[in-house]
Amino acid sequence: MQVRVPLRDRPYTVHVGAGVLAQVGEIACRAVTAPATKAFIVADSGVPHAVVAACEKSLADRSLLPVTTSVTPTERNKTWGTLQSLLSQFAQARLDRSDLVIALGGGIVGDVAGFAAAVYRRGIPVVQCPTTLLAMVDASVGGKTGINLDLPGAGLMKNMVGSFWQPVAVIADIEVLRSLPAREFRAGLAECIKHGLISAHADEPGLLDWTAASLDRFAALEPSALSELVHRNVSFKARIVQGDEREEAPDQEGGRALLNLGHTFGHAIETLPNLSPDQDPSHAPLLHGEAVALGLVAATACSASLGLCPTTLLDEVRAILTRAGLPTRVAGLPPDDALITIMGHDKKARGGSMRLVLPLGGGRARVVSDPPRDAIAAGIAAMRG
Ligand code: GLY
Repeated sequence: MQVRVPLRDRPYTVHVGAGVLAQVGEIACRAVTAPATKAFIVADSGVPHAVVAACEKSLADRSLLPVTTSVTPTERNKTWGTLQSLLSQFAQARLDRSDLVIALGGGIVGDVAGFAAAVYRRGIPVVQCPTTLLAMVDASVGGKTGINLDLPGAGLMKNMVGSFWQPVAVIADIEVLRSLPAREFRAGLAECIKHGLISAHADEPGLLDWTAASLDRFAALEPSALSELVHRNVSFKARIVQGDEREEAPDQEGGRALLNLGHTFGHAIETLPNLSPDQDPSHAPLLHGEAVALGLVAATACSASLGLCPTTLLDEVRAILTRAGLPTRVAGLPPDDALITIMGHDKKARGGSMRLVLPLGGGRARVVSDPPRDAIAAGIAAMRG
C-alpha cells in the first residue's frame, strides 16, 4: 500500500505493509534526485537488532554504505546533547549533502534524527522508518522535526526547537509492530482515536466508528487490520498536511493545528516524572500517547463545559480510550494553577494567548483562544484520578 503526500515543493510516498523495510535501499535510491553513497542510520535502542541488520543489508545491497548509531528514546534525551552528538557523528562519517539519514525508530528518534538531517549542511535527505504505531500514524508523516528545550525554572519544554523538514520517503513496516511492547502499541492508538475525533475535516467521517469496531483485531495484531489502520490514518494525515503544511491556517479554519487536539493538556502532564498510567510508580512517566489520551478527555470535558459539545461525547471518548487500554484518569496531578501555567508555555500559544483545540462531536473540532479558566479547570478535573 502506498499513500502519496502531495506537497507542492516536496511530494513523497509513504510505503505501508508487512516486510517493506527490507526494501529501504531500493526505496531510498528511488526517492532522491542526486545519487547517495552513504546512509547514516539513527536507530532507536528499542528496535530489535535483526531489524537494524535487515535495514543495513538492504542499503548495502544498493551500494549505500551504512553507518549506524543508537539513540535511547526518552524525552530527556531529545535535547541539544543528542542533536550535537548526531551532527558530530555525521561529520565524522563525512556525510555530504547528497547522503542520507535513515531515522529508524519511534517518534523521539524520528524527531531528533529528522532535525539533525534538517540542519546538517543546511539540510540533507531523511527517510523516516517508523517502528512504533504512534510514529507510523502520526509523527513520521508531515515533516515536523525537533527537540525539547530544558529551560531552568520551566522544566522540559516539548518540541520548542525544530523545523519543518519533509522526509523523501516514509516506510511503515507493520511487521515491526509484532516486537513492539503492548504498552507502546496502545499508546499509538491514542493518536488514531484523536484522528477519529477530527476526521470530518478530511472527509473520513467514519474513522472513529471503524477504529472502535476494530480494536479487538488491532489487539490481536491482525496484519490486514494493522495495514488498514496505518493506511487510513496516514491518508487522513496526508490530507490535513497537504492543506496546511506549516500550520499557518487561521484559527477559524483550523487546518493542521487541529491535529493538536488533546496535546496542550497532554504536553503539560507528559514531562511530569511521577505520573503513571496505572498507579504503579515503576510505570512512570507517561508515554506521549498516554498523555494524549488523558488530554483528549480533558479537551472534551473543557469543550462540554463551554457547551461546545454534548456531555455524552465525554462518555464516548472515555469508553473508546478505556477499551483501547488507555488511561482516562491519572493520580498525582499538580494543582490547577501549576498545570495552567505549564499549558501557557505551550508552543501553540499565539500572541500570548493560550489556544486549545476542542472537539465539537461529529468528527469536528475548533480552535478556541483564551478559554475561561473555569473551563480549563473542568478539563483538568476530568482527568484527575
Ligand atoms: N503531530 C501533529 C502534527 O504533525 O501536526
